[in-house]
Amino acid sequence: MIEQQNMTIVSHRSIAEDIFELVLEGSLTNRMTSPGQFVHVKVTSGSDPLLRRPISICSINQSLNQFTMLYRVSGSGTGTKVLSNLPKGSKVNVLGPLGNGFPLDELEAGQSALLIGGGIGVPPLYELSKRLTERGVNVTHILGFQQKSAVFYQEEFEELGDTYVATVDGSHGIKGFVTDVVDQLSLKSDAYYTCGPTPMLRAVEQKFEHTTGFISMEERMGCGIGACLACVCHVNGDESGLLYKKVCSDGPVFKRGEVIL
Ligand code: FES
Repeated sequence: MIEQQNMTIVSHRSIAEDIFELVLEGSLTNRMTSPGQFVHVKVTSGSDPLLRRPISICSINQSLNQFTMLYRVSGSGTGTKVLSNLPKGSKVNVLGPLGNGFPLDELEAGQSALLIGGGIGVPPLYELSKRLTERGVNVTHILGFQQKSAVFYQEEFEELGDTYVATVDGSHGIKGFVTDVVDQLSLKSDAYYTCGPTPMLRAVEQKFEHTTGFISMEERMGCGIGACLACVCHVNGDESGLLYKKVCSDGPVFKRGEVIL
């Protein structure tokens, strides 16, 4: 069930270039069940701009009533810039959890999963990886970033399973895109889960044509609550071109091939 709540900042820090880690506390956390869901965040700070923004859930700690979001500051004067200046103890208005997350029951203990994330698409894969490893699934991560200064959560992912980092400019890890890592290491799995920029999702879907896969399209979201239609995508195989799905409320996670990327 969706709820709106003023949650308290218990930790807030910069973890990479323009990337912040924000830990929030409140009972709304109890409603977060599925990895891959997101929240709608609103910040009002004096006369500063009002922020309404969909941000993915990175990690959930039910016992502490806390969850973690990682977000990118999209420029000076933006709502995310206002958010990044809020200190510990401040309140953030959170609406959520929103959307449908990654299914966990597709794989059994002993099977293997490939988790492929690009940039700000990496965070939701962290909670997913925790849940899959709890179920005994063997998890491998491929994380793609533009350059070394943009890399985050490498150690956190390494604690859960094999982790390969790629940077476009080669300044850290393997040079190239996440699909280059798949090619170089001949990585295979029983299922894949991916989140990132649309060209990356398309490339991953083509790479694993015959593998069960789940794709999170968060990048395509606007309002996050089904009101703006900025997020619609067309359904695969619909010749009329009239059928569409809303990424924010039907997704953001879709089965591979379900929608046109
Ligand atoms: Fe506005 Fe989906 S993001 S309708």
